[in-house]
Amino acid sequence: MTYSFRTKMFAASLAAAAAALALATMIVAWELRSQERAVIEQRLRNQTTLIAELLSKSALTAGRLDEEADRLGELLDARVTLIQADGRVVGDSTADDEALEALENHRDRPEVQQARTGGIAVVQRYSTTVDADLLYVARRADHPEVAYVRVALPLTAVAEQVRRVGRDALLAFALAAPVAIGLAWLASALLSRRVKTIAAVARRYREGNLDRPAYDYGSDELGTVARVLDDSVQDLGRRLDEKTRDEARMEAILSGMVEGVLVLDRQGRVRLVNRAAQGMLHVDASAIGHLYLEVIRHPDISVQLTAALRGEEVGARELALGRNAARLFIARAAPVGGPGGAVLVLHDITDLRHADQVRRDFVANVSHELRTPLTAIRGAVEALLDERADPEQTRRFTEIVARHSARMERLVSDLLRLARLDANQEPLDIAPCDLRQLFEAVAADVSATAGAKRQRVTMQVAPDARTIQADPAKLHDVVRNLVENAVNYSPDGSEVALEARRIDGAVEIVVCDSGPGIPPADLRRVFERFYRVDRSRARPGGTGLGLAIVRHLVELHGGHATADNRSGGGATFTVTLPAQPG
Ligand SMILES: Nc1ncnc2c1ncn2[C@@H]1O[C@H](COP(=O)(O)OP(=O)(O)OP(=O)(O)O)[C@@H](O)[C@H]1O
Ligand SMILES: [Mg+2]
Repeated sequence: MTYSFRTKMFAASLAAAAAALALATMIVAWELRSQERAVIEQRLRNQTTLIAELLSKSALTAGRLDEEADRLGELLDARVTLIQADGRVVGDSTADDEALEALENHRDRPEVQQARTGGIAVVQRYSTTVDADLLYVARRADHPEVAYVRVALPLTAVAEQVRRVGRDALLAFALAAPVAIGLAWLASALLSRRVKTIAAVARRYREGNLDRPAYDYGSDELGTVARVLDDSVQDLGRRLDEKTRDEARMEAILSGMVEGVLVLDRQGRVRLVNRAAQGMLHVDASAIGHLYLEVIRHPDISVQLTAALRGEEVGARELALGRNAARLFIARAAPVGGPGGAVLVLHDITDLRHADQVRRDFVANVSHELRTPLTAIRGAVEALLDERADPEQTRRFTEIVARHSARMERLVSDLLRLARLDANQEPLDIAPCDLRQLFEAVAADVSATAGAKRQRVTMQVAPDARTIQADPAKLHDVVRNLVENAVNYSPDGSEVALEARRIDGAVEIVVCDSGPGIPPADLRRVFERFYRVDRSRARPGGTGLGLAIVRHLVELHGGHATADNRSGGGATFTVTLPAQPG
């Protein structure tokens, strides 16, 4: 059973008051008893000396001694005993003649024995004659019949006095008790209220509310302790705040990083795994607190972490992660000094490697594309150098040289254009463009080729899509490239349809043909540089750069280009441009 602080305080103060009163009573009683006894003793000493003095001057006969003892006893209000040298009692104020005869010899009484050696003997003992504690004082007397005078008094008066003091003390306690109870109650209430307030503040702190209370703790020891604790809590709160802020900052930095970061503690448990690392290692935040061997499935990484936990410096290692090892990473694990543990940093180099591959492919493609016409030109030139060639052959070889050098020129100029676009060297020159006029200009550009193949170019421009804000020259290049492709890859006598329409604040330019279409797997790739669906089928003279330039130009306008197949056969190229380029 637990008692409240207040009850304990109350009980303690009440107990203290009662104990103090009891102790005071005991001390007073004891003091009183010893004082009273000292007074009685002194009185008996004086009386004994007086009687001895009287006897030495009187000539009382043996027969009158008892009478004298009675008289003195009555006068002094004490028991007076006169004893002969052999111990026989010759006078006693409490015994008549017969009783005197019957009184036993007093020779062995301690006070008589002590008095024999001279001086005054004082003895306190129980007397069976009067059935009480008595104080005896005896001394020698200078009388022929009396050798010792003894005066005695019962100590009942002292006992009575002490009893009275005890009774008074009890009465005082009974009177003082309500006051003491009241005072104790008040004191404990005041103290307990302060303690309760401090406890309430502490409870609030524990619940996380660290606002300093508008409460004055007081200036005594309790107040000082409370204030010191309060200051400590506030200080702790401030540090906790700083730590939380630091952690949040750290968290923000780590989660914003593209590199994956994994931190292990000394025991090899995961302490931190940022968002990027979660994606790379296919774990989630629940991995925190688990051993790395349980959560990391990649043996190479586990080996690195194990070495780092042993404090070894591990070199960076390239590895493939993810389904079908689709992504490439550089992983570097390092030991953490101080608290121990290890940190792993994962750097995704897939795009880097891809870009590298693209660059290498590009160089290979350019070389290949240049070698074909160069080989043809060289063959023709060698043939031309042969003096046996007739004029007809000379003309044919010269034509080959002309065609292939034109193809090379086209290739080089397309490459230069792409390089300029890559380097952002072709700024947009935005102006209102009339799409109908633009379509007609493109149709005029391709009219020779289309006419040779007996193809028809139709055009349809929605009234709300007629004008668009764009770079007219670049848009012309876009549409011309698409229409050239449509004309080139469609069979003779087919139709090429051009359409412009407005959809949700954007303008769509669609070029449809009824050619062979594009295999679905190649739909996305046709916009890549040098990509041609089927090289054997590719148009001689095409470089495979046209659609790459289209995509670049469209994206420069903030739009995008897609390729699709029509359900009835043929390809559809759609260019979506924002009505107002950003
Ligand atoms: N309308 C179309 N129908 C079918 N295939 C097409 C069509 N347009 C493009 N392609 C395919 O996409 C490839 C890439 O086209 P792109 O215009 O980039 O190059 P190209 O036409 O071969 O050469 P050029 O640089 O002279 O345009 C073409 O080789 C062709 O295989
Ligand atoms: Mg083309």
